[in-house]
Formats: sequence, structure tokens, C-alpha cells
Amino acid sequence: MPDPASQIEDLRAQFERDLAAATGEAAVRGVRDRYLSRKGGLLSALLKALGTAPADERPRLGRLANELKEDIETQLGARLSAVEQSRPPSGAVDVTLPGRIPTLGHRHPLTLLRERIEAIFTRFGFLVIEGPELEDDYHNFEALNMPADHPARDMQDTLYLETPMRSAVGSQATLLRTHTSGMQIRYMEQHPPPVRLIAPGRVYRRDSFDLTHTPMFTQVEGLVVGEDVTLADLKGTLDAFARELFGADRRVRFRPSFFPYTEPSAELDISCGACAGTGCATCKRTGWLEILGSGMVHPAVFEAVGYDPERYTGFAFGMGIERVAQLKWGVEDIRLFYENDLRFLEQFPL
Ligand code: DAH
Repeated sequence: MPDPASQIEDLRAQFERDLAAATGEAAVRGVRDRYLSRKGGLLSALLKALGTAPADERPRLGRLANELKEDIETQLGARLSAVEQSRPPSGAVDVTLPGRIPTLGHRHPLTLLRERIEAIFTRFGFLVIEGPELEDDYHNFEALNMPADHPARDMQDTLYLETPMRSAVGSQATLLRTHTSGMQIRYMEQHPPPVRLIAPGRVYRRDSFDLTHTPMFTQVEGLVVGEDVTLADLKGTLDAFARELFGADRRVRFRPSFFPYTEPSAELDISCGACAGTGCATCKRTGWLEILGSGMVHPAVFEAVGYDPERYTGFAFGMGIERVAQLKWGVEDIRLFYENDLRFLEQFPL
């Protein structure tokens, strides 16, 4: 065993070096813990080792060790009060601290996409309007050529605010709008032609929560009315829009469809971006993805708002922003847009 007396002196020398090297309050406290901590401190380890020294040596060694302990405490006490005094007054700015980089947020992907769609149509000369989410049966259904027993009014699909007693309350029943198409009626009731607008906003349906459905989602409605608006205008406008949004390399096609408020009606497909149109799981092997419904405004709709169907023609369209977002960014689960998980949201804009 090395000479215990010189062990004590070694520890003293080591302590003095450590204390001299310690700058700042935290470092000095670190030295204190290292030497004086009751469990695992270097001093208690030394005292323990002295217990094995020959009996006649112990009193002398004990005295030396105690002197060292007192010295260490005195020196540490002096250093600690010195560093505490040089602490900046509370509230002072420590200019030596590294800067903090604030985490920047950004708009929600659905908002980004809605703004992008609005920007495209604004450039095409469209007006952007908004309207009520709480709607009446007349604007949501009846004026859009969906008379009283039309299946779309079914309570399976529509969220009514009160029991629809159709015979009594009829077209005044209050509901959460199931689509933005009612905005066509609201605008035309108040303004004479020509019309060129889009109406984005939330819509509600009694739907399940699954990969492709949420009971609330967002649509963008479009309406153009004038004296000689034709199907070619519809095709040209929507074709330009789709390529603007998805990229000029995408192809589009129109597929015949049915909506009560348009005749003829068509759905717009774009070529699948995942497989460049050759067929894959995303497009269910068809090479095409449906993005919106559209058509030439039905004369019955013009009659409902007092436009002369002999004089005016127009086209309308409607699309779901969530669906477009899913296709544009390859998001398989629509619910991700509503869960506010930052790991998802931080990936946008892509
Ligand atoms: N309202 C339809 C829907 O909710 C979308 C739509 C289709 C709107 C054709 C239109 C249209 O204006 O012409 O699915």
C-alpha cells in the first residue's frame, strides 16, 4: 500500500489543481461534489482507505486527513462566495449565451393548398367568395334541381340541425351544407351575370372517419356564367387549372358523369403521378385519378335564381381540397390532415 501520508498530500495537490482550473459557479460546485460528496467523494474514499492503516499510525493520519478536509472546505467556501458575487444581477442579459433559434411554424397544408388554388383562379380572373356553413335546404338542394325526394337529401348523408319535417318546414330546414354548390345560388340571387367565381369552404357529411372520409372537409366551388360560355370554356379552364396545380407534364381527361345541377356533367381525371399513367396501386391500375366534378349549369338552376336560361349559359365545378392534397402529396390517410401531429405537418410545403 502506498504511504498514506503522501496519499493525503497527493489528494491535496490534486484538489488545488482542480480548483484552480474551475471557472464559473457550476464548475466550482462540480469540484465540491467531486471531493466532498459523502457517497463517492474522493475525500471519503481516502478516509475509508486510512481505516486499514496500522493502529499506531491512525491518530496522526486522521489528524492530517481532517486538516485536509477543513482546508478543502475553507478554500471551496471562499471560491463559491466569490463566484456567487460575480453572478450577473437577476434580469441582466448574459451576452455570452449562444442565441436561441426559434422554431418557426407555417400554415397548415390544407390552407397552403387552398391559397394556391385561390391564386391560380385569381390569376384567371375569378372572384373568391365565402358563405355560410349553416345552410337551408333550399340553397343546398332545392334550387340546385334536387327536389324534395331527391336521394342526396337523405338523413344518412346530411347533418340536419333539427328533424326535417319536410311537409311542414320543407325548404327551410336547417342543415350543415353538404357541399359548396349552394354558393352558386347565393351569389346569382344577388348579382346579375356575368359571373366568374370560386367559393372555398368547409362542408359536412354524415360520414365515417376512415382513410378517405372525414365528417368535415373542404371544397372549392367554381361558377362561370355569361352570354356564350361553352363546354370548350369549361374544358380549357379546368385543363389549365389542373396542369398549373399538378404540373405541365400531367394529362387530363373528361369523363361523362351525372349531377342534378349540370347538363351535361363530367368528371375531370388527371394522369396518375405515381406511375405516370401506366397503372399502379394509387390509381387502382387505371392510370387516372379523379379530381373534380363539373358540368354546364342546368337551365333549372338559372330559373331558380331568375337568370334567363335562353340568354345565359355557364359551367360549374367542385372539388375536395383534401382529396387534391392527398393526390398531390401522396398522403394515403386523410385523417392525418386533422390530427395536428407535427411530424406530419412539418413536412409541408413539399
Ligand atoms: N357538389 C359536388 C360534390 O359535392 C361537386 C360538384 C360537381 C360541384 C359538379 C359542381 C358541379 O358545381 O358542377 O361532390
